[in-house]
Order: sequence, then structure tokens, then C-alpha cells
Amino acid sequence: MPAYFATAPGKIILFGEHAVVYGRPAIAIPVLQVRAKAIINFDPRSAPGRVILRAPDIGLNTTLSDLPENHPLAVVLWKAASVMKLSHIPACTIQVTSNIPIAGGMGSGAAVSVAILRAFSASLGHPLSDEQVSQLAYEVEVIHHGTPSGIDNSVITYAKPVYFEKGKMIEILQVKRSFTIVIGDTGIQSQTADVVSDVRHAWEKAGEQFEGLFDAVGEITTSARKAIETGSIDSLGSLMNENHALLRKMSVSSPELDELVEAACSAGALGAKLSGAGRGGNMIALVAPECSDVVIRAVVNAGAVRTILTEIRGT
Ligand code: PMV
Repeated sequence: MPAYFATAPGKIILFGEHAVVYGRPAIAIPVLQVRAKAIINFDPRSAPGRVILRAPDIGLNTTLSDLPENHPLAVVLWKAASVMKLSHIPACTIQVTSNIPIAGGMGSGAAVSVAILRAFSASLGHPLSDEQVSQLAYEVEVIHHGTPSGIDNSVITYAKPVYFEKGKMIEILQVKRSFTIVIGDTGIQSQTADVVSDVRHAWEKAGEQFEGLFDAVGEITTSARKAIETGSIDSLGSLMNENHALLRKMSVSSPELDELVEAACSAGALGAKLSGAGRGGNMIALVAPECSDVVIRAVVNAGAVRTILTEIRGT
């Protein structure tokens, strides 16, 4: 039997993280340079029903029946089996690899779910639709992150820049002019659920102030959408700076993230901010392509353990 495989990209949130959990819009883009990959092999000689799972990046080599029921890989497979109305999962080996940093705000969990859902459903001759893939990946996120907005599974499933508002159809963004982003990883892992929960507590205590911050972020995101659609790349940079200042007021930045933002801007970036939940993970900086090397060097000197240069192509 042939092997089946599927991949899914990483992602970054350009605008609107945290506020998006409270119903404001956000913009995210796929990062195609990093990917999760799932490969499925059927071996007719293996024992019926024996599903082997290998994820060398996290040292996992086990069978589905030995995995805890709420393990993300088990959940994704059982959910897929249920939607596909399978009475059992046929014997196979599923190998998952990924070069998306874990717990770094680049959607590694959602990308693994999307890659598995696509490879698994295609291998059984019943490829799930994008909507099904996104919905199932969302359900897996709910189990592990509590109250995800749904932006990660959406941008990773569609692998296009998206404008996202909770509870609404996602919109694929038209990009008038290409732009370039430097991603700088603090190397600090941060659990999205913890940061989201801290913001919730702060919002419960100081509702009005936080509603004001979320509204301001929402307005920035709306302006950013216009800037992307009209090719006004310079104004995108200052919108990123404003968004970062608001995220600092929500107490989700960190000295390391602030340092990377500062270094990028001093080296000539048009704007910079943290991306994702914050407290660690990644900083993103908008750069003119000819400045990217200088900005990358500055960000590395300021402590980034890894950088990625990504271009969002005009459509
Ligand atoms: O760390 P990430 O990229 O998974 O960031 C999550 C973004 C939040 O807005 C903080 C939470 C969410 O579910 O949208």
C-alpha cells in the first residue's frame, strides 16, 4: 500500500491577539517555511487494529491504545474516525514530524492536527473538507487550550492570510502589495492557556479598562486590513507598534520580547510587536526587503535564538 502524507504550515498573528478572544477581529498569516507533516503507512502484515504513532520530535513512539484518551494525537484520530463514521481505525503507522517551534505562538499544535486529519482522511479515500478539517482542529484546541478563538486552526487550514472574527465566516485577505516579516524567537516557551487565563482574570477585575484596550486593538486590526488591501505597507508598521503598546498594557509582553521589538525598530524595521499569546514565543517585525539582513542581525544580537524571514505575497 502507498504511504499518504500531508503537511500544514505554521502561522503568526499579525494583529489582534487576545482581543480576538473577546470578539474583536484579528489578522493572521501562514508561515510556509515551517511545517508539520504526517505520513501514514498501512502494513497488511501488522496486527488488526494496531495503530502505531511516532513523533520523534517529542520522543513519542507508542500505539494508539496506549496513549491517554485526551492526548492531542488520540483526540484528533478519534474525532476524525467519528466524523468519517469509521467503526474502527485500520492498522497503520502514523509518523508526525514538525519544525514549527513548540509553545512559541506559531500554531504547532493546530498544524499537527491539520496534517494528520488530511493525511488520515485521504488515506481512507474520504478526504475531509477544509471546513471539517478546521472545525476538528478547533475541537482539539478546545480540549487543550480551553477557550481558543479559532484563529489558529483557520489560518493553518486555509494557508492564506485571514481576517478572523469569532463566530463569523473567515475572510481570506487580498494582499495588494507584498510585504516582508522577520520573526524572532525568544526561545522562551509560553503556554497560551496560562496567558489567556491571566488576561481573563485581569479583564474580570478591570473590565472597562480591558474592554477599552480590546476596542483599540480592534480598530487597529480594521485599519491594518485596509492597509493590506490597499498596499499601504508603511502604515502597517506603525499599526504594529501601536498594537504592541496595547499588548504591553495587557501585561502579556516580557522584557525579552520588548528587547527584540526595540532592537528590530532601532535597526530600521517599519514596526514590530509580539505575536501570539506573549510572555515568550515570537516577535515579528515588518521590514523593507533590503533591510532584512540588518534587522535579523540586530534581533539575533538582542537574544533571538532563531529567526525566520517570510514574505507575504501580493495576490
Ligand atoms: O500563542 P498562540 O499563537 O496560540 O496565540 C493565541 C492567540 C490568542 O489570541 C492569545 C488566543 C486565541 O485563542 O486566539
